[in-house]
Amino acid sequence: MSRIAYVNGQYLPHRDASVHIEDRGYQFADGVYEVVTIVGGRMIDEAGHLDRLWRSLDELSMDPPMNREPLKFVMREVIRQNGIRDGIIYLQVTRGVAPRDHPFPKNTPSSLVMTAKRLSMEKGAKTAEEGVSVITVPDIRWTRRDIKSVSLLPNVLAKQKAKENGAYEAFQVDEDGMVTEGSSTNAWIVSKEGKIVTRPTSNSILAGITRASLIRELEKNGIELELRSFSVEELYSAREVFLTSSTSYVLPVIKVDDRVIGNGHPGLISQKLRTIYEKFMSEDA
Ligand code: PDD
Repeated sequence: MSRIAYVNGQYLPHRDASVHIEDRGYQFADGVYEVVTIVGGRMIDEAGHLDRLWRSLDELSMDPPMNREPLKFVMREVIRQNGIRDGIIYLQVTRGVAPRDHPFPKNTPSSLVMTAKRLSMEKGAKTAEEGVSVITVPDIRWTRRDIKSVSLLPNVLAKQKAKENGAYEAFQVDEDGMVTEGSSTNAWIVSKEGKIVTRPTSNSILAGITRASLIRELEKNGIELELRSFSVEELYSAREVFLTSSTSYVLPVIKVDDRVIGNGHPGLISQKLRTIYEKFMSEDA
């Protein structure tokens, strides 16, 4: 089945799909996005992702490209036309096409682009069984990391550095030596005392939808959680480390920089939380 992309009202062959050179997303990174997991052809946490998309748009005074119900229809159509069972759908909204000038353009409709792709559940499961390594890098981003902006250059640089070091992810560290989040994931530890810890939401991190759903599942299962920042030192000496995102679900980390975490294998709590999250996904889908 050939890939189809949605671009401003049209379903086009993926290879021919394009936007105008003066799209503000292209010229100013003046846009926002979402990545939604698809399991068994159904979206996980659709409402949470759309709520966050609307919040990002609102924070940037950007018009939604269409109302929520028609948008949900287009998302389903993109999934259907691409024949996706397991994978992701990517949505991007920008402030539209206008002659290059920094202030917001007048009477310019927002642009909307959607793509979808398959992801192998088996590959993801194998990665989780083995665990991954992460590196730490200084967080050089702006102070509105709560907005899911397409302006991802610091994230791209961080992920590239991880790749060059044979790592899966880079955890970013603020000026006080505290971990903010990964370049495209949220960061968690199981502390020396055995407590599950993740940073509270604020402008310093993206409020991950996977993070929020896992917190809800922890509450349901009566598992204690500490919402607080943690330092790089605490990260190094944690019993367990894991990360969360729409594409990684709950993923155990077995090495941070040159420090082995625990016994160098995915921790029991991280594995249990992945199982809990997978169960949630199978019920939500
Ligand atoms: N990234 N933090 C950052 C900086 C992110 O970019 C993401 C998501 C997350 C996790 O959020 P969620 O659980 O809602 O996926 C945290 C997506 C997957 C991406 O950029 O591809």
